[in-house]
This record gives sequence, C-alpha cells and structure tokens, in this order.
Amino acid sequence: MIVLGIESSCDETAVALVRDGQEVLASKVASQVDVHKVFGGVVPEVAAREHLKAIQPLFLEAMAESKLSPKDIDLIGVTQGPGLIGALLVGVSFAKGLASHLEKPLLPVDHVHAHVHGAMLGLSPNIIDEQLFPCLSLVVSGGHTNLYYMEDPIKFELLASTLDDACGECFDKVAKVIGLPYPGGPKIETLAKNGDPSKISMPKMVSEKQKMMFSYSGLKTHVLNYIEKEGPLSESMRADLCASFQEEALGQIIRKIKRAMQLKGKGVKSLLVAGGVAANSRFRDLVSQELSINSFFPKLTYCADNAAMIAALAWHEYNRYKDDHKLLMNHDWDAYSRYRFEKVIPQVHQSEA
Ligand code: KG4
Ligand code: ZN
Repeated sequence: MIVLGIESSCDETAVALVRDGQEVLASKVASQVDVHKVFGGVVPEVAAREHLKAIQPLFLEAMAESKLSPKDIDLIGVTQGPGLIGALLVGVSFAKGLASHLEKPLLPVDHVHAHVHGAMLGLSPNIIDEQLFPCLSLVVSGGHTNLYYMEDPIKFELLASTLDDACGECFDKVAKVIGLPYPGGPKIETLAKNGDPSKISMPKMVSEKQKMMFSYSGLKTHVLNYIEKEGPLSESMRADLCASFQEEALGQIIRKIKRAMQLKGKGVKSLLVAGGVAANSRFRDLVSQELSINSFFPKLTYCADNAAMIAALAWHEYNRYKDDHKLLMNHDWDAYSRYRFEKVIPQVHQSEA
C-alpha cells in the first residue's frame, strides 16, 4: 500500500511516499531555517507563507523521485496537529484538495506520535512484531518532551511531559544567550565536545525523583544567571557551560526513563527515541551506557520533522480503521493547535468507542 505523507506543522514543509508503513520511496523536506534565523526563532505567519510556496513543488518532486503517479497513492496522511495553526492549515488544505480530487482516503495524524514512527522506519516487520512492544517511547524535540508507554504502534499512554519548556526549546534558548545561532541544539552539542560536563554545577528538579515530569525553566534561568555573573565567556568557559548544561538537560531524561522502566516493570521490551534532540550523539551514548534496554533511534534524516513518519503512522492507523469506509473518506475535520488536539481525536475516530 502506497501512503502519501504531508507535514507542515512548524518550519519544515515535507512530503513523502512510503510503502506499507516502512519502505521510504521518496522523502522531501524544505527547511525554513534560513528564513527564520534572522528573527532568532520561528515566526508563525512567515512559516505559513513559506509552506504555501513550497508544498506544491515539493509534492511534484516527491512524485518524480518515487517514479509513481498520483493514481498509485492508496492513502494520504497529513499532520493535523499539534503545531502552528496557520502552518498546519496549509498542509491540511493541500491534503484535503488532493484526497477529494483523487477520491482517496485521508487520515489526520498526530505530529508528536508520528515522531516515534521515525524510529521504526526501515525496521523489518519481524522486528516490529516481535522485539518492540510493549515499549517506552520518547519524543524529544523543539516543541515536546513526551515519554509514552505503548502496547502497539498506535496506542500511546502519556507517562510524562514537560511542565514548561521542551528540551529542544531549552537548547535553543540557552544557545541564544550564549550567542549561538538558531537552531542551537546542534551548536551546543559541537561546543560541548571540547568541554568538561562536571565543571559547572547545574540545578536538578525539586523532588524530581517521585514526579513523572520534565522541567527546563530552572536550568535555562541558571545558565542565564551564570552568564550575567561571569560576564563575557572565554572559549573554554563556553565549552564547559555547553557540556555541563547538556549533561543535565539529557541526564534528567535518562533518570525519568529509569523510573518509567521501574513503574512499567519487566514487560517493557524496548525504548524508541525520536525528535530533533534524538540526533544528539551524547544522548545516544547516555542511553546505551545508562539504560539496560534495547533501544532504537531514527536515522539522522528522520530525527527532525519529515513526512515519512507521518505516512508510517497513517498506515498503522489505516490498518486499524480499514473497515470503516465512512471514517476514512470523511474529510470533515479541522487542524488543531497544541492545546486542543488531544480532545479532538476521539471525535475524528468516533468508531473507536
Ligand atoms: O523534531 P524537530 O525537528 O522539531 C520539532 O518538532 O520541534 O526538533 C527540533 C529541535 C530544535 O530545538 C533543535 O535545537 C533540536 O531539535 N536539536 C538538537 C540537536 N539537533 C536538533 N538538540 C540537541 N542536540 C542536537 N544534536
Ligand atoms: Zn517535530
């Protein structure tokens, strides 16, 4: 089954064609990073206008790369939310137009859940069936720090999320105060390689042992205060600061995964890690050194936003709802921003009850 995935939730327009939820035939991403760099972060209206320019040519490029024709598409999956509302509307409108023109089923996809499927892309069906579930999955990106328990590829039980900033967002904000360009995560990782992670002490979350949640605002404020107190930093101080910050930003997540493994017991077979921060090599090292669990990370190209992950989750959802023709052909749903999304899914999937 050929699935077209469409993604436009933030600052990347993406289109992909994926066979059976796992074999990527084409994956195109148009990044807006250079456009937003001058503002030091993503400007929502600018993002929406950039999606509008990019989406049609990107679709044609993906079709050409896959050597398929639009009539070969069996299903369309599009990011419904969470994300910037103007940006989402571009992808959703494009997908709806295409689906009604081609008379193909269309499914709305949760962007955060789809990230987890980035870590499953390319895995053989045998591994997915036998080695993954039940699992813990972690989405650690610019907008989310979510830890889930999953019994199958579409069932997400949220165990922990952030009280304030997301992990990637905190990397970006700390990078900004250190004077590094957006997006700051990769720059901090590079500087941290030459620094000593134990040089500058970093605050840990209050009574964090018990609570299944993440928090980054204290860490961010601590770095800000440190810079104000110390004045201009030398190269080696900057490297030490990046290394020390990175160690705690990631260490906090490792401790929470350990706690989740205790809570969920021995039944947990694997850990899936996804989202932009999953590209961080120190994080990959910490996971393999500190956690005794079989872990799966996406290829670097599928850590950040892409549409292959959207198509993959759409395929799994389709398998669940394939007998419900009415649901699959229903295009009467809206795009949703970060805060309303969870409430909307049961309405879309009315047949689930
Ligand atoms: O998943 P993603 O592309 O977009 C969202 O859905 O948010 O993640 C982007 C985030 C940015 O905050 C970026 O700084 C962070 O991922 N990031 C990193 C690294 N690469 C990207 N953070 C830490 N280390 C990295 N190597
Ligand atoms: Zn994302």
